[in-house]
Amino acid sequence: MSPTQISATLTAAPDAVAFRKPKVSDGVRLWEIARDSKVLDLNSSYAYLLWCQDYAQTSVVAEVDGKVVGFVTGYLRPQLPDVVMVWQVAVDADQRGLGLAGKMLSQLMDRLEPRGITTLHTTISPDNTASQALFAGLAERRGMDFRREDLFSPNDFPDDHEAEDLYIVAPRR
Ligand SMILES: CC(C)(COP(=O)(O)OP(=O)(O)OC[C@H]1O[C@@H](n2cnc3c(N)ncnc32)[C@H](O)[C@@H]1OP(=O)(O)O)[C@@H](O)C(=O)NCCC(=O)NCCS
Repeated sequence: MSPTQISATLTAAPDAVAFRKPKVSDGVRLWEIARDSKVLDLNSSYAYLLWCQDYAQTSVVAEVDGKVVGFVTGYLRPQLPDVVMVWQVAVDADQRGLGLAGKMLSQLMDRLEPRGITTLHTTISPDNTASQALFAGLAERRGMDFRREDLFSPNDFPDDHEAEDLYIVAPRR
């Protein structure tokens, strides 16, 4: 095991947790976790497989006893070279509250920082307090700024969809 792999293998009682980039074979689990969250927009299974193939560098999975129990999917914003956009974050219900989501996001930022990607964007609906707490905690632990901006209103969507506010975790100015 390389030093990187060792440092990415942390312990969250009672099981060992490994954090790594997704593989195409993880696409099924990403789709299942998103489906079971009952909160996230569920995209097609095809979208998750494609994501694992093409955006693994900006995505993370958490594995407990060989099973993927959580994921972060992200991409680099084409017009903003220092920004990773986190698209979806989810953890299986029985693994929540153990810090897995926070650690996956930290792993992603640690991985991208050496490439000059130092800012994280995400969108959160106004009633998702767990997600707001997740990103606020990430910013606090890393000593970064955390702020909200308007992005998509319900009227921007063709279906019945809540607003999606932009949240920014950025180096302190
Ligand atoms: C949001 C979610 C990913 C958090 O996963 P998790 O592994 O339980 O999160 P963590 O244990 O890392 O906790 C992160 C922070 O969020 C807080 N938090 C977690 N669940 C919470 C809840 N239900 N209500 C309020 N705060 C909550 C924790 O207290 C923690 O705060 P801290 O950093 O100040 O200690 C998980 O609840 C989930 O999968 N929800 C359904 C999908 C979803 O809403 N995704 C986010 C939108 S993209």
